[in-house]
Amino acid sequence: MNILLLGSGGREHALAWRIARSPRLTELFIAPGNPGMANYGRCFPEVSVQDFEAIAALVRQYKIHLVVVGPEVPLVGGIVDFLHRQPQLEQLLIVGPDAAGARLEGSKEFSKGFMERHGIPTAAYRSFDSGSYAAAIDYLRSLEPPYVLKANGLAAGKGVIISSSLEEAQRELQMLLSGRFGEASSRVVIEEYLTGIECSVFVATDGKDWRLLPVAKDYKRIGEGDTGPNTGGMGSVSPVAFADAAFMQRVEERVIRPTIAGLQAEGIDYRGFIFIGLMNVGGEPYVIEYNCRMGDPETESVMLRIDSDFVDLLERMARGELGDYRLEESAKYAATVVMVAPGYPEAYPKGMRISYPHEPTFDSALFHAGTSRDSSGHLVSSGGRVLTASCLGSTLEEALAACYRLVDQVNYEGKTLRRDIGQDLLALQ
Ligand code: AMP
Ligand code: GLY
Repeated sequence: MNILLLGSGGREHALAWRIARSPRLTELFIAPGNPGMANYGRCFPEVSVQDFEAIAALVRQYKIHLVVVGPEVPLVGGIVDFLHRQPQLEQLLIVGPDAAGARLEGSKEFSKGFMERHGIPTAAYRSFDSGSYAAAIDYLRSLEPPYVLKANGLAAGKGVIISSSLEEAQRELQMLLSGRFGEASSRVVIEEYLTGIECSVFVATDGKDWRLLPVAKDYKRIGEGDTGPNTGGMGSVSPVAFADAAFMQRVEERVIRPTIAGLQAEGIDYRGFIFIGLMNVGGEPYVIEYNCRMGDPETESVMLRIDSDFVDLLERMARGELGDYRLEESAKYAATVVMVAPGYPEAYPKGMRISYPHEPTFDSALFHAGTSRDSSGHLVSSGGRVLTASCLGSTLEEALAACYRLVDQVNYEGKTLRRDIGQDLLALQ
C-alpha cells in the first residue's frame, strides 16, 4: 500500500524507519519530511502539516491508501475530519483521531473532565478564566506547594508551570490569563501536585480494541540530574523497570479500559495512538496527561522494540480491525540520546554543519529531529533538537553505551546532550 506520513521530527523519522521495513509497503510519501527520512520515502518539504488542501492533493495524486499523522497540531486542527469530508476520500484510512478525539490533548479542561466522568485516576483540579481570577487564587491557597498551572490549550509543550511558592504561582497565573500563550492560556487548569516517577504508555487503538506498545520513559529537563528548564525531550529508554506486570495490569484496568470505554460512551470513534503520561504514585497509576499522538523522543526508542509488522498494525487501527493482531515486542532494551543546539531550549543558533561517519545498522539509528540541507547540499542543523542516537542492547547499560558511541561520532559546533540518560533507572535496579 502507499502511505503518506505527516511530520518532520525524530518521531516521524523513527516511524518512517519502521514503516519502510514492512513488506506491506509499496511506496512511502512524507510531508514535509526531513533529510534523514529521504532514505525511506519521497519527501515534500514544501507541504506543511497544516496545509490540509495540499495534503488532500497529495493523497489524490499518489493514490494514498493510508495517512499516518505524526504531530498533534493537525489532529487538534481537524485534519481527519477535513480529509474525510473531501469527495472520494470519505473512506480514506487514517491513523490519528478526529478533532473530537484530539481534544484529549487539545483541551486540558476536556481531558480532566473526561477523566472525572469516567473515574480515571488523576490529580484533583479546577479550571479558571480571567473572570474567575479571585476564585483561582482561593483555590491555589487551598493547595499545598508546589503548585501546578496548565494552559488549557496547546502550547508546544511549554504550557505546564510548576511553582514552589504561592507568590510565584499567583504571578504565573496572572501571566497565563493575560495571554502568555494567547488563546491557549485564556483558561487555566490548576491541579494538585503528584509525587512519583513518570512513564509514557502508548496505546494503539481502533476505537474498540487496543494494544499496548512498549512502555518508555523520557527525560524532559535540559540538565543532568533532571535540572533546568523543560525541553522537547533529551532522551528516552524502554522498557521501564518499575512499569512491571503488576503495575501495567493496574494501568490497563484503571486507566486504559475506562479510557477506551469512555471514548465509546461519548461517541468518539478514536483510531490512533493515545499517549498516556502516567505518574506511578506508590504503585498506583495517575494520569498526568493524554496526548493524541506518539511521544517524542519516546517513539525513537519504542520503534526499535517493535518486531511485528508495524504497517499491519497501522492499517488495522485505521480500518477498525485490530482484532487478533499480535504485537511482538523485542526483549532487548532501547535507549535514545538527543543531541541539541547550544543554548536550547532558549535561543539557539541554526545552520551548523553536521557530519557523521556511517549509516547505522539494524540495531541502531540516527534519527533526524531538526536538520535540513543548505544551498550547497550540506546537512545542517535547523532546530533545537538536532539528531537522536537510538540503539538496542541486551541490557540498558549496553543500549546506552551504544548510543554514546554513536553520539561521539556526530560532529557539529556546540553539540549538547545529557550524559545521564537512564541513570535514574539503573540506580533503582
Ligand atoms: P506536560 O507538558 O503536560 O507533559 O507536563 C510537563 C511535566 O510537568 C510532566 O511531565 C510532569 O513532570 C509535570 N507535571 C504535570 N502535571 C503534574 C502534576 N499534577 N504533579 C506533578 N507533576 C506534574
Ligand atoms: N515526550 C513527551 C511528548 O512527546 O510530549
